[in-house]
Amino acid sequence: MYCVRNVTEDLYWVGANDHRLHLFENIHPIPRGVSYNAYLLLDEKTVLFDTVDWSVCRQLLENVEYLLGERSLDYLVINHMEPDHGASIEEILLRWPQVKIISTEKAFLFMHQFGFQVDGHELIEVKEGDSFSFGKHNVTFVAAPMVHWPEAMVTFDTTNGVLFSADAFGSFGALDGKLFADEVNFDRDWIDDARRYLTNIVGKYGPHIQLLLKKAGGILDQIKYICPLHGPVWRKDLGYFIDKYDKWSRYEPEEKGVLIAYASMYGNTEAAAQALAAKLCEKGVTNVWVYDVSNTHVSYLVSESFRLSHIVLASVTYNLGIYPVMHDYLMHLKGLNLQNRTFALIENGSWAPKSGDLMQKFIEDEMKNMTVLGDRLSVASALHPDKASELESLANSIVESMQ
Ligand code: FEO
Repeated sequence: MYCVRNVTEDLYWVGANDHRLHLFENIHPIPRGVSYNAYLLLDEKTVLFDTVDWSVCRQLLENVEYLLGERSLDYLVINHMEPDHGASIEEILLRWPQVKIISTEKAFLFMHQFGFQVDGHELIEVKEGDSFSFGKHNVTFVAAPMVHWPEAMVTFDTTNGVLFSADAFGSFGALDGKLFADEVNFDRDWIDDARRYLTNIVGKYGPHIQLLLKKAGGILDQIKYICPLHGPVWRKDLGYFIDKYDKWSRYEPEEKGVLIAYASMYGNTEAAAQALAAKLCEKGVTNVWVYDVSNTHVSYLVSESFRLSHIVLASVTYNLGIYPVMHDYLMHLKGLNLQNRTFALIENGSWAPKSGDLMQKFIEDEMKNMTVLGDRLSVASALHPDKASELESLANSIVESMQ
């Protein structure tokens, strides 16, 4: 059975939702599922914008067949060749062999690399600034390299103001019928998954997102709809989401607040983390979030690190090093290029506490534009009242740095 929604006039969402996949890219948990968005334009020519993951290909085909009726598919625009969007290209070609594919040079290279049989079909290579007419609708292609792969482009329909934004402005979470961001309480129910998607998937490429935002800035008054490849379509309050993207890609925190990430083997480092959290709240800083790195998937830690201004790392010493899960979290922050945060440290070690020095070295040597506060709480096995003044100083130091 088809499952489509009208976006505007002659444009339709023909994608699909997936609640069965547990790990996006086989790494990030998606407990609320994910949508793979594709769009069909019924102009004088018929145009499919992107395809979907192989797992939901059948739904895409039913949707497109239903809307086309007796018509044929004339064009397939591929904005992004990652297989969660490009995997169904061959199925489209099998059903509509005369379809012409429009994409970038690099995307055609990737189609060949992935083994898609596109040779023999008409391939139309486009580059930055090229335009194309499908009848009433004229589109312009805009290069978006590294948002999120090098071949990516976005397509702007100058007739109806629809921006097909590829991975940009996407989100984890299945749509479950609600196509538009204004049909949900986005700020309450979606923003965390949107941030987790962007920061973990494209976080490394902040400068490239900035470049795309700059290009979009020039035509902002003309953009009426943002149609991403995952998550809701935007037709109202576009500035809200654009502002979030601007902050995330500049590595600026959304909020003044403290993330306390602890690595604890027997609960003693956790107790120190909780004592600091209570102390901060007592001092009036209540935007405090405590996470056990061993029991929190790193994608959530990354997302919270992008949200908040301050990060406290509390780690046991393990094999004379940083606790492995904490180290993994730091490696993700480095890999995703997070910057402009203030760190504070709590270390624990029963005979040779090393984690504090090692975490400080990692932050200072491996990351960019970070501040590590001078006060550090050093715990030998467990936190005792003799450390009350050290705890107080650490809390004061964090509060002061937030002024
Ligand atoms: Fe959803 Fe970069 O693909």
